[in-house]
Amino acid sequence: MAERRQLVAGNWKMNGMRADGLALARGVAARASRPHRCDLLVCPPATLIAAVGEALAGSPVALGGQDCHEAASGAFTGDISAEMLRDAGCTHVILGHSERRHGRGESDADVHAKVIAAWRAGLIAIVCVGETRAEREAGRAVAVVTGQIAGSVPAGADAAKLVIAYEPVWAIGTGLTPTTLDIIEIHAAIRAHIPGGTRILYGGSVNPRNAAEILALPEVDGGLIGGASLKADDFWAIAAAAQ
Ligand code: PGA
Repeated sequence: MAERRQLVAGNWKMNGMRADGLALARGVAARASRPHRCDLLVCPPATLIAAVGEALAGSPVALGGQDCHEAASGAFTGDISAEMLRDAGCTHVILGHSERRHGRGESDADVHAKVIAAWRAGLIAIVCVGETRAEREAGRAVAVVTGQIAGSVPAGADAAKLVIAYEPVWAIGTGLTPTTLDIIEIHAAIRAHIPGGTRILYGGSVNPRNAAEILALPEVDGGLIGGASLKADDFWAIAAAAQ
């Protein structure tokens, strides 16, 4: 058995009305009753967390949020705290996704504060890092990603409460993926900066056709799946490719 059990996580992003979100959750839960080799997680939009949690009850599929505020409560209109995610049944939260770093201007310091909040609430933080196309072409991918790790991961991290997701910005939702050598290089560079045993997921255009090759790579401890997590069959095909 591998030292680190793989984790296949679905990031539903801002997708799903109640009816199709529940159908998807039930579809994943039903498939997860079959034998499989990985841990499973779905991260629905906040509006569906409670209902999806009910649909997943009794299944091995864990529930996560897609972001949180650093405070536990207060006058922060529109925000959700890590404590609220925990209260709604979450065990994980995605933090520092590129759609928040680049789309919402979140800095490493912002992500750092949110990770502390996640741990305070007892959540496992999935910290996303990844270079842009321009940064890769400038030969800076390793420096950017290890810099994000240094700035975003607080002291006191350990493998039980931290997961890293390497998601090249240019590979998210584009159908493009790095070469396997590039994935291995970045994961190995990340590995040198995090506590032993911490899982490093790859994310960015993982689909049922490329999952087996990517999930077989050394240092790849699972996947963070966007578009392909919105179809139960595709998500399950990726999970079935886990090592
Ligand atoms: P994608 O998204 O699988 O649709 O590329 C991955 C992610 O953003 O987590």
